[in-house]
Amino acid sequence: MKTATVLTALVAALGATALPHTRSEEKGYSSTTAVEAKPTSLTGPNGEPYIPGQFFDRFFMIIGENMDIWDVEAQAPFANLWKQAPNGRILANYYAITHPSQPNYFAHIAATSYGWNSDSVVNITGADSFTIVDLLEEKGISWAGYAEDYPITQGCYIPYAPEYANGTQVPHSYVRKHFPFVSMESIYTNETRCNNLYNAEMFWKHLKENTLPQFVYFTPNLLNDGHDTNSSYFASYIQETWSETFYYNDYFNSRALNYISLDESGNTTGFNTVPGDNNNHIYAALFGGALSNRDTFDKYDFTRYNHSSITATLEMNWWGSTGLLGRNDTYAPYFAVPGAGTI
Ligand SMILES: *[C@@H]1O[C@H](CO)[C@@H](O)[C@H](O)[C@H]1NC(C)=O
Ligand SMILES: *[C@@H]1O[C@H](CO)[C@@H](O)[C@H](O)[C@H]1NC(C)=O
Ligand SMILES: *[C@@H]1O[C@H](CO)[C@@H](O)[C@H](O)[C@H]1NC(C)=O
Ligand SMILES: *[C@@H]1O[C@H](CO)[C@@H](O)[C@H](O)[C@H]1NC(C)=O
Ligand SMILES: *[C@@H]1O[C@H](CO)[C@@H](O)[C@H](O)[C@H]1NC(C)=O
Ligand SMILES: *[C@@H]1O[C@H](CO)[C@@H](O)[C@H](O)[C@H]1NC(C)=O
Ligand SMILES: *[C@@H]1O[C@H](CO)[C@@H](O)[C@H](O)[C@H]1NC(C)=O
Repeated sequence: MKTATVLTALVAALGATALPHTRSEEKGYSSTTAVEAKPTSLTGPNGEPYIPGQFFDRFFMIIGENMDIWDVEAQAPFANLWKQAPNGRILANYYAITHPSQPNYFAHIAATSYGWNSDSVVNITGADSFTIVDLLEEKGISWAGYAEDYPITQGCYIPYAPEYANGTQVPHSYVRKHFPFVSMESIYTNETRCNNLYNAEMFWKHLKENTLPQFVYFTPNLLNDGHDTNSSYFASYIQETWSETFYYNDYFNSRALNYISLDESGNTTGFNTVPGDNNNHIYAALFGGALSNRDTFDKYDFTRYNHSSITATLEMNWWGSTGLLGRNDTYAPYFAVPGAGTI
């Protein structure tokens, strides 16, 4: 007998009411309950009015580098984050897509790695270069990419890494492979779009002025993200630079879904030979006003997510369905938020 049949039989035998089918029903949420998008008076960096989403009005993401879930979770600031930040939650079954870095960053905004498996310079052209940016702009939803040590204040910086006049790279700073926007033809050929790419200093300015866009992509430099350092360095950076914002900034957290994760695991042993690349298990946490944890169980989400879940979540929030890019956003589960029916 299948488990479901056993349960049904048990329920019948006990004369009990039918068991809820999903966590959402159990918690009193219904997948058919549309959460009404509430008007907001917020604007983006260029005065763009916020377009209300069903579940959140802003999605923020920040990415660390090359660490396994156990390595990150062993650092107190990361373990504490999902336990203590507003409505924090760990996505305990989140897997990166491939190795090395670059294709994982592509997947954040494009729901595919394009089958690419290198960090070297590539231009993604034509229809392939359509990303979440194209969808957001159709609805007038503001977006921006911010990168630490980006060599310019605003615009598309095309080279791989910042260079001195003598051609030497600036160590531990910005690299192109961690900032997917500049590899997309639909962006680097369009000045208006390029102007949504900023040095991270502008993030702090926009935060202070309450003019962050609705989709915020933040890339730390190679020291802060742990790439040229390690998990304790990354943890200190988060603690010192971000904890005030993450824990106490009402503007930042209000109707916001905030995401922190890694691009890929540190363990590449068995890559391409281990089925499903089960060693690509990474830390990922969500927090912010969009989530309302009702009990400790809500702190753990065991759905198997991957980077395509990001685009799927944005689509579910503003369009009410997924798969709009026609890539892996069609299959990847969106992050469970109250009212979205999957908690
Ligand atoms: C990618 O496009 C940029 C901007 O047009 C160009 O400067 C660069 O040479 C191209 N790179 C490759 C690898 O095609
Ligand atoms: C290149 O220029 C930078 C900045 O002036 C300097 O620090 C560095 O030593 C130079 N490197 C070489 C190889 O000359
Ligand atoms: C460039 O981007 C702007 C704003 O995103 C958009 O309105 C415009 O259509 C784009 N231009 C081209 C040629 O794609
Ligand atoms: C990270 O590197 C620092 C400095 O080298 C070292 O003291 C620390 O123990 C390392 N942390 C981890 C978790 O490996
Ligand atoms: C790395 O991954 C391989 C293959 O999945 C696994 O056998 C090994 O135990 C992992 N190493 C660590 C340190 O997690
Ligand atoms: C899904 O992602 C994989 C890996 O990035 C990619 O090879 C594949 O083409 C994607 N599928 C679709 C339908 O985009
Ligand atoms: C992500 O997860 C979905 C759902 O399990 C799967 O279809 C997809 O191939 C995975 N990989 C990528 C690159 O999206």
